[in-house]
Amino acid sequence: MLTQQELKQQAADAALKFVEDVAAPDTVIGVGTGSTADLFIDGLAAFKGRIRGTVASSERSAARLAALGLPVFDLNEVDFMPIYVDGADEIDSKLQMIKGGGGALTREKIVASVAARFICIADESKLVTELGKFPLPLEVIPMALASVSRMVVRLGGKPVLREGFVTDNGNAIIDIHGLAIPRAKEMETLLNDVPGVVTCGLFALQGANVALLATQDGIRRLDS
Ligand code: A5P
Repeated sequence: MLTQQELKQQAADAALKFVEDVAAPDTVIGVGTGSTADLFIDGLAAFKGRIRGTVASSERSAARLAALGLPVFDLNEVDFMPIYVDGADEIDSKLQMIKGGGGALTREKIVASVAARFICIADESKLVTELGKFPLPLEVIPMALASVSRMVVRLGGKPVLREGFVTDNGNAIIDIHGLAIPRAKEMETLLNDVPGVVTCGLFALQGANVALLATQDGIRRLDS
């Protein structure tokens, strides 16, 4: 019986095969944030000198990449990335996701938007039939915390401020508990339109292209 850590490792290793396919002196890889992404970063060190470098979705991942000697570029210096590799808090069969458990959702969405393909790596416990059991993070401009919270209540969710947490962009996170999300794209559009919401942790309008889900029987690959 593989542990959850071993399953995460398996998913991270599977994503490295995608790096192998695109590795070239001018290749820049988009890198996500979280415990599964950390394992991917560690494996990416083997590509030092074979790729141009990386773009990171958080200060935390940037520091880990730099410590391994991998160049980390500002996104403004990069106009193409063949792949972006990141974990998820929940993913459904359409490869729509909830992300932002680590609070890096805004930069994750930005970096992912520039990559040709989003490769999601996770253990199979993240696969759900309907998104929403995992609290949905919203990155919020601090002056809008109360107004956004009232909007969340009107939508039927329970807003919980992530106490003492400040994002890499200097904002706050509200986690929405108990929100039913039968139509993720509609919900993402609706939340994107709430004044003061910087980013909603739903990645449905632009979900993953490939999911590599580690199971006790090996990698289960889903394509969108
Ligand atoms: C970070 O903000 C998140 O979006 C992570 O990608 C997500 O929480 C998955 O993290 P783990 O790999 O640690 O479960």
